Amino acid sequence: MKEIRFDFNNMFSPNIRILHGVGESELKAMSPVLEQARRHLLGLTKDRLSRICLGLEWIELPFQSKQEIARIEALAREISQKFENVIFLGIGGSFLGLKAAQDALSPPYYNDFPGLRKGRPRIYFEGNNLDPDTLGVLLKNLDPKKTFVVVISKSGETTETKAALSVVESWLKKNAGKFFGRQILAVTDPENGTLRKRVNLENGKDKLSFRSLELKKGVGGRYSELNMGLLHLAITGIDIQELFKGAEDMIGRCKSAVLFENPALMYAALQTILYRKKGKSIAILMPFSETLKSTADWYVQLLAESLGKKYARKIKKDSKAREAWEPDKKHIVNVGRTPIAARGTNDLHSIQQNNIEGENNKTITFIKVERFCQELELANTGDLLAGKKFSELLSLAEEATEWALVRNDRPNCAITLPAVNPYYWGGLILFFELACAYEGELLNVNAFNQPGVEGYKNYMYYKLKKQGLPKEVAQEIKKRPLSKNPRFII
Ligand code: PA5
Repeated sequence: MKEIRFDFNNMFSPNIRILHGVGESELKAMSPVLEQARRHLLGLTKDRLSRICLGLEWIELPFQSKQEIARIEALAREISQKFENVIFLGIGGSFLGLKAAQDALSPPYYNDFPGLRKGRPRIYFEGNNLDPDTLGVLLKNLDPKKTFVVVISKSGETTETKAALSVVESWLKKNAGKFFGRQILAVTDPENGTLRKRVNLENGKDKLSFRSLELKKGVGGRYSELNMGLLHLAITGIDIQELFKGAEDMIGRCKSAVLFENPALMYAALQTILYRKKGKSIAILMPFSETLKSTADWYVQLLAESLGKKYARKIKKDSKAREAWEPDKKHIVNVGRTPIAARGTNDLHSIQQNNIEGENNKTITFIKVERFCQELELANTGDLLAGKKFSELLSLAEEATEWALVRNDRPNCAITLPAVNPYYWGGLILFFELACAYEGELLNVNAFNQPGVEGYKNYMYYKLKKQGLPKEVAQEIKKRPLSKNPRFII
């Protein structure tokens, strides 16, 4: 079977001159640090307690038991047989992985054509914004008796998801009959959080109310597609075991101590050198595939939340040499490459001008697909495109883009998927997750928390008068409120 390939020729000198590319000697000089990063990360993953405490349990997700998956698939069958529509409510890590899987692994226009769905429900994603227009229109047009709702939130506290659930629940309560609670399922923390409390409360009152699935401990939202996305995968009929196999095989490759056989470590190494030594602080991910655009959106969250950090990581060890990580408040680093999601060929007519001639401060990662599910051939009209296949033209466009970038000393690399299917997509997801984890090691930041996201949440909670908000939050907002000078608004 063919493997996912990582081609990094164009990150290197001589393809890219040494001012902007990586030299073999630079990579060689880094090898002890890389080996240390690899050993440290993999060492931590060997201990269950460390995995859970540090947020590394995602590395175990592809090894979930067949029985666990069979239980989720049985639930999915029941939902699919009874309902015509499923709305998934969630945001950030509780949304992006599902959307990426939907677009990559279900046929395009899935909701529009029953033949493509093979009797399965239409899928909608909501709760990922507070814009009232989309959810408002959806609820006016769906039949509440034929609609199932899956609410995904680890904390249960996230405003967007909470607000959407409240509206959807009222809509079902009003229109779907007294057992409307049976049409809601929560995917949430096994013990903590307001959604878990709510599920327990509902079930205490009435066994015909909310059901739930438990999230694994020690898995942050953005690393959890193979956890919180499982019900979605099962409802849409995506082969979960194949996805796990692809992920497992990729983990095997990315554990290798041989750098030239370890794609995630190589990716992390090259990106780190280019970031730290050559000023490439912008990371553009450009799949040459329409269906992988949402995977690039998922990666944006993965990279931004994992590596965009203010403080360095301080490692503390307990008596059993188990690690705990803390932000080192004396060591402000403000690191992290800025991710941008793009897609070829669409964005060759927009962002590409800046990639080629703008500031030379970026790396571009392409995702190439070798074999598409469909093929289209142009008519033989005597034109220069005559008789050409779409996939041939797409591949040529990608090659041409590489050439144009190389000509201008713009570092770029390509990940090739033999096909977009559950096996390779599972591998792709794990490749990026491992690369991010290795980059976290190299930058010495905690790649598994997201303290910066709390800022806006806390401000909203303060304004909404949330009970139990830490005093310091209120103090800080009062001390430095958001002030607007009318002179500066014209
Ligand atoms: O990566 C993360 O952990 C975050 O992006 C969360 O997924 C996001 O904030 C949603 O949180 P929750 O699942 O608690 O609603």
